[in-house]
Amino acid sequence: MIDRSVTTVIDKERCIGCGLCVKVCPLDTISIQDGKAAVTGKESLSCSHCAAACPEGAITVNATSGKAMLSYSTFKEDQKWLKHGDFDTSQLVRLMRSRRSCRNYRETPVDRNMLEDLVKIGITAPSGTNSQGWTFTILPARGSVHFLANQVARYFKELNNMAEKSHLRLFMKLTGNKELDFYYKNYYERVKETLSEWEDTGRDRLFHGATSAIIVGCKPGSTCPAEDALLATQNILLGAHSMGLGSCLIGFAVSAMQRDPKIKLAAGIPANERIYAVIALGWPDEKYFGLAGRKPAVIRYFDKA
Ligand SMILES: Cc1cc2nc3c(=O)[nH]c(=O)nc-3n(C[C@H](O)[C@H](O)[C@H](O)COP(=O)(O)O)c2cc1C
Ligand code: SF4
Repeated sequence: MIDRSVTTVIDKERCIGCGLCVKVCPLDTISIQDGKAAVTGKESLSCSHCAAACPEGAITVNATSGKAMLSYSTFKEDQKWLKHGDFDTSQLVRLMRSRRSCRNYRETPVDRNMLEDLVKIGITAPSGTNSQGWTFTILPARGSVHFLANQVARYFKELNNMAEKSHLRLFMKLTGNKELDFYYKNYYERVKETLSEWEDTGRDRLFHGATSAIIVGCKPGSTCPAEDALLATQNILLGAHSMGLGSCLIGFAVSAMQRDPKIKLAAGIPANERIYAVIALGWPDEKYFGLAGRKPAVIRYFDKA
């Protein structure tokens, strides 16, 4: 059940009746009554658009007015709204293109405040009906990342044991489940190699030696849990690069956690949360001299006069 309770409070003394809050409200929570804004709707997304649009500071949305969630301790935020077009697009694109999946990390741990600030950067993302059901589990040190890597390795060892049985693959294929056969053809060999390196030499090809990680999940009941979690994730990736950190999405860890709930529970994540991203983080031990390209994307118009 999505919480749509109204926590909007309007200071009538300050309100000049300009109607700017009404214009930006997605649920018609506010209307102008006798020349002043009034809360007349029964539902609110608690998006705070009204409070941000009010030139007189007359609106408080109690659900989101707590400052702690969006106050950062590792950098100073210029708390002014940038109007549309008021940012250097070339710098934005430069940041986006400079972020790379990092697969070489130094051993120096990342400060916990930086990890918390990254989460706060994450939650500035949009979310379906503003449900903000995302959850972030911070693995602050190599020990916790190593623990998770061991759990994921155990899962893939069991999966590889199953996948190498040709009769099992055939049986599953004949009963309509082609997943194991697909896994065998596309991942089995690489996973086998990775697992034996992990066991024989301790080389971490799963988390690439990252000293920390953030697991992004979502609570049940959100309208678009995957989209919300992944939008927050992209914010974190960009934020990490801007803060000097390397990052890498670890899809293998996500798939293990989605299929084996024991891993989630072992990491202290409730069973009813679904995991959408595992972000490896750490101080990078690599640099680039240029930007990477992209394959041609499908771009089409659906044009109607
Ligand atoms: C959903 C997803 C899962 C990924 N899983 C892994 C992974 O398990 N291990 C890894 O090293 N990189 C992983 N990556 C990183 C991709 O390989 C990488 O994004 C891609 O090669 C493009 O490189 P770039 O991120 O540097 O632009 C993943 C990326 C995405 C989007
Ligand atoms: S934006 Fe502020 S001043 Fe304008 S009507 Fe709404 S509450 Fe009143």
